[in-house]
Amino acid sequence: MKRHKPVLLKETLELLRIEPGAVVIDATIGHGGHAAQMLRMAGPKGKLIGIDWDEQMLATAKENLKDVPGAKVFLHADFRDIPRRVSDAADAILLDFGVNLEHFEAVERGFSFQADAPLDMRMDRSSKETAAAWLNRATHGEIAKTLREFGGERFAGKVAAEIVSRRKQGRMKRTGDLVEAVLAAIPPKARDKRIHPATRTFQAVRIRVNDELEQLEQAIIAIADKLKDGGRLATLSYHSGEDGCAKRAMKLLAEDRRFRILTKKPIVPSEAERRDNPSSRSAKLRGIERIKEETE
Ligand SMILES: C[S@@+](CC[C@H](N)C(=O)[O-])C[C@H]1O[C@@H](n2cnc3c(N)ncnc32)[C@H](O)[C@@H]1O
Repeated sequence: MKRHKPVLLKETLELLRIEPGAVVIDATIGHGGHAAQMLRMAGPKGKLIGIDWDEQMLATAKENLKDVPGAKVFLHADFRDIPRRVSDAADAILLDFGVNLEHFEAVERGFSFQADAPLDMRMDRSSKETAAAWLNRATHGEIAKTLREFGGERFAGKVAAEIVSRRKQGRMKRTGDLVEAVLAAIPPKARDKRIHPATRTFQAVRIRVNDELEQLEQAIIAIADKLKDGGRLATLSYHSGEDGCAKRAMKLLAEDRRFRILTKKPIVPSEAERRDNPSSRSAKLRGIERIKEETE
């Protein structure tokens, strides 16, 4: 299996400015690419708290980080629970949203439209309903709204109608069924040549099944409260829904003057990175710093 390439790695590390002895939280550790470098900067006296809601990712991260010196704690959790589950104050926090390369490569997990597999798409397989279960129970209106809002799908109503009609014949159980529904709904002439016609639908259903945007803005605000004075938080988002939440959360945090925004405009990958790692294409990096309180 290929290892997930950490996106905007150099830029993220520059933004987080981690010093020796730091406590760092990687809230979405994935394969641990960012986390390994964060812990290296924190050094042997540093501490990493690595979180993921996918146990398979946590296991891979543990293995990949085993030789990096420093204290390590791994937590199987939704990062939205950080305020409740993590007691440490942090010098640096990273939220690298979305999916890991492994999610697409592990065909049986149903994230990819490239291969036929059960329609699962759950990142945390200990909870939540599968994509098939949701697509077989949601109303036409709910499906269309999801495809429009989380996928920006122009043919949302038509794709939803195909899904509803096909599920009546028991044809909405596998990724291939969903791909066929999309292809039947979007006329060839209207298809975007640069991406597979099912890309938007798969993204939208994944976001819905995992409730990825639910309470995200409030969660970022609450997580930023874990920062020590002078500590920094960075977000890496891959679509406008996530980026909007990060942007609004940081704006609200900065309004009360305890935080300052480090990125007036989001930092985006260079041409070279986009070429080398196509999954970085839409990435946007934003950062915020907790202002040191003046002591008299
Ligand atoms: C883009 S990958 C992170 C890649 C990582 N930075 C690396 O270098 O390998 C995003 C990870 O976040 C996890 N994730 C997404 N949403 C989450 C949430 N709400 N709580 C915990 N983990 C989450 C996914 O399971 C996935 O492993």
